[in-house]
Amino acid sequence: MDRRKFLNNMSVAAAASIAGATTLSAKADALEDEMARQLEKRRGKPGLCYIDGRPERIPGDERAGLMGTDPLLPRMPDKPTLTDFFNHRFGSASHLLQSAKLAMDGGEDEKIVLACLLHDISVYSLLRTDHGYWGAQLIAPYVDEEIRWAIEKHQALRFFPDKDFDYEYPEAYIEYFGADYKPEPYIVHEHKEAKKHKWYRTSRLITVNDLYSFEKGVEVAIEDFTDVIGRNFKQPKEGLGFDGSKTAHMWRTIIWPNNYL
Ligand SMILES: [Fe+2]
Ligand SMILES: [Fe+2]
Repeated sequence: MDRRKFLNNMSVAAAASIAGATTLSAKADALEDEMARQLEKRRGKPGLCYIDGRPERIPGDERAGLMGTDPLLPRMPDKPTLTDFFNHRFGSASHLLQSAKLAMDGGEDEKIVLACLLHDISVYSLLRTDHGYWGAQLIAPYVDEEIRWAIEKHQALRFFPDKDFDYEYPEAYIEYFGADYKPEPYIVHEHKEAKKHKWYRTSRLITVNDLYSFEKGVEVAIEDFTDVIGRNFKQPKEGLGFDGSKTAHMWRTIIWPNNYL
């Protein structure tokens, strides 16, 4: 990270919070929070994801609206691959990498490993809301239909225990949404239908590997999955975003998340 750009972009509140922290570790926490906030604010998050409608201005840029390459973002290759998106746009996607590693270490087949690697791709690149559906749509042209389906449905399956797979309701959800939270009727319906589906197991395995994948201190790199991606993700030769597929515009939005139009 460019230190000068980082400091220029820091909000007054963040600077005060770092300065006001009394211990070294509290200072480190405040600094990390601010770094995450800045990264989250610029990387792979298109305009509709900002609560106030637009990203912070780039210091010195007087144009009314940004078009083209955002100088505050890492430059993408002309023909970007899935790995390039992981390295330059998804921010800290260690949750995806750790989920995939867990599946791989558990001896799951490559289809499951790739499904785990991509299951929350929308959270890291586009939208959190209905992330299973957005993520499934984004990758649809490039993966086996079973992987697309499993990623779409994992969002609903996460809310429902399944004893056959030793899967329980996530404790984190109680913390995030409150103990009395009840999923919307469409999620209840999706789960009910998915249970009868021939690919239920694939989607359920995403949730099984999802559950235990928030391990701190475990380093996994996207390059650990080069072979799995090579065999199971149909990388277009023109690059993601430029192959004319039905979701090319979604990839371009991730490349240029801050473009005015
Ligand atoms: Fe998810
Ligand atoms: Fe997840």
